[in-house]
Amino acid sequence: MEVIIVKDRDEGSELAARRLRNRVSSKPASVLGLATGQTPELLYRKLTEWQDSDPVNFKQVITFNLDEYMGLENSHPESYHYYMTTHFWGPLGILEDQRFIPNGLSKDPQQECLNYEAMIQEKGPIDLQLLGIGRDGHIGFNEPMSSLGSRTRIKTLTESTRKDNAAAFSSKSEVPYHVITMGIQTILEASEIVMLAFGDAKAEAIKGCVEGPLTSVCPASALQMHPRCKVIIDEAAAKRLQYQSYYREVYEKKPSWQKAEFV
Ligand code: F6R
Repeated sequence: MEVIIVKDRDEGSELAARRLRNRVSSKPASVLGLATGQTPELLYRKLTEWQDSDPVNFKQVITFNLDEYMGLENSHPESYHYYMTTHFWGPLGILEDQRFIPNGLSKDPQQECLNYEAMIQEKGPIDLQLLGIGRDGHIGFNEPMSSLGSRTRIKTLTESTRKDNAAAFSSKSEVPYHVITMGIQTILEASEIVMLAFGDAKAEAIKGCVEGPLTSVCPASALQMHPRCKVIIDEAAAKRLQYQSYYREVYEKKPSWQKAEFV
């Protein structure tokens, strides 16, 4: 796990956006695993803005989203389908047959999970998986005590996640209880993972993810098992880490060939 501590959200989003662009430049038919939520919004905005001055060809890219609420229409402003149309698929011109997101309206949700997992196996592996993290340590919507060997399935959100996500809905009672999410094992099969976290509210979860024991109590701790995972965090999210100064030193002393990943 490579921990990169940046000054703020802007610097972190820029680094991650550069990594993603580099991935797509060097492999135009990249398979990207994408997250929604507040965390990647600025990253997606930067990608979109850079297309005007220095375009990268996203036409062959295939995208898989981590998760979707159950029971929300695609046109619902809080559905992740709507989010992706607004922040990524629309601005970057990802065609319908190249973008995948669980169908939270499926009449047979269990079959939908199996189909989604099979589609990832068919089109994958995911070259680069982008992640945020919940305050309770969830990745995707793999809440605490999710099996570390899990695959795409239906999950029930915790009270804390429903509360965090309520801001965007008109009231908490409107936040669905159920979601379809890639599993932890599904996520771990990506060739490379980039996690982003900003702000004090994520400090505890980042502590568990990076330095905590490997445990389903903090699902993000499973990322410690991944051979190529970058965790890009601002100072507020890093504040509980014991080895902060070591992580900074590793990054500063990085050999130039490794720095090229972000150029
Ligand atoms: C979203 C997702 C979630 C979010 C997490 C953080 O697709 O998979 O794990 O990354 O809930 O959400 P924000 O970024 O809104 O703090």
